[in-house]
Amino acid sequence: MGITSKPVVFAVLSAVVILIGTTVTVFIPLFMPSTQPVSAYVKPYTSVELEGRDIYMREGCNNCHTQTVRPLRTEVLRYGEYSKGEEFAYDRPFLWGSRRIGPDLNRVGGKYPDSWHYRHLQSPQGMFEKSNMPPYGWMAKNKLDTQYSYKKTSILGYGYTESDVQQQIVQCRSKVTAESYPAKESRDQVTPPELRNDLTEMDAIIAYLQKLGRDVKNLETKK
Ligand code: HEC
Repeated sequence: MGITSKPVVFAVLSAVVILIGTTVTVFIPLFMPSTQPVSAYVKPYTSVELEGRDIYMREGCNNCHTQTVRPLRTEVLRYGEYSKGEEFAYDRPFLWGSRRIGPDLNRVGGKYPDSWHYRHLQSPQGMFEKSNMPPYGWMAKNKLDTQYSYKKTSILGYGYTESDVQQQIVQCRSKVTAESYPAKESRDQVTPPELRNDLTEMDAIIAYLQKLGRDVKNLETKK
């Protein structure tokens, strides 16, 4: 009489074997550091970039834009180096997306100057007549709400202190409000006078767009 004629014993034994298999192949790797690559070159978002990312999600930009360059020749030629797992270490949730009504944005950082983004967000159709991207000019009329910036970075475990976050906000504000800011002209065109000395939602989303893929590009230029 083999084990196959004892259904209960057989069921219990197979359950045990499957459980061991699952533990070894799923649960142990889940907590192994080697399956969670963290690279020295990928830096977390600054608090302002993170606010921009939140606005990106709020507005559903990810419904039209993906953020992952696949390792295919045509994609690499169009967008640049394909996306690696560790680049998304600070992304919660991921914004890989699944629809490409607009182009992929994973390598858009540094592709255009800030002034381009102010003009493009204000009026995509002003730049590309047939673009179906909605205009987001009103973002420049909303002051950026930074009251939860520190809380957000600490929940995500970026390791900034409250004064780091304040410093990042001040730094970004002085950058975009400076007389010498290269995008001053296009920023002033879209930002109402009373907000020109403040950070707006548009400033934050542009800071975020300029961060996308920047760490990878920096790494490549260092090579
Ligand atoms: C209805 C779909 C749609 C939505 C929603 C949308 N876009 Fe776009 N986007 C496009 C299309 C189409 C293009 C290409 C034509 C153009 O540049 O206007 C584009 C182009 C872009 C580009 C230029 C990319 C490049 O490499 O040239 C950026 C940056 C961008 N969008 C950012 C955003 C942001 C930020 C949001 C959310 C606030 C957003 N888009 C929402 C459709 C969309």
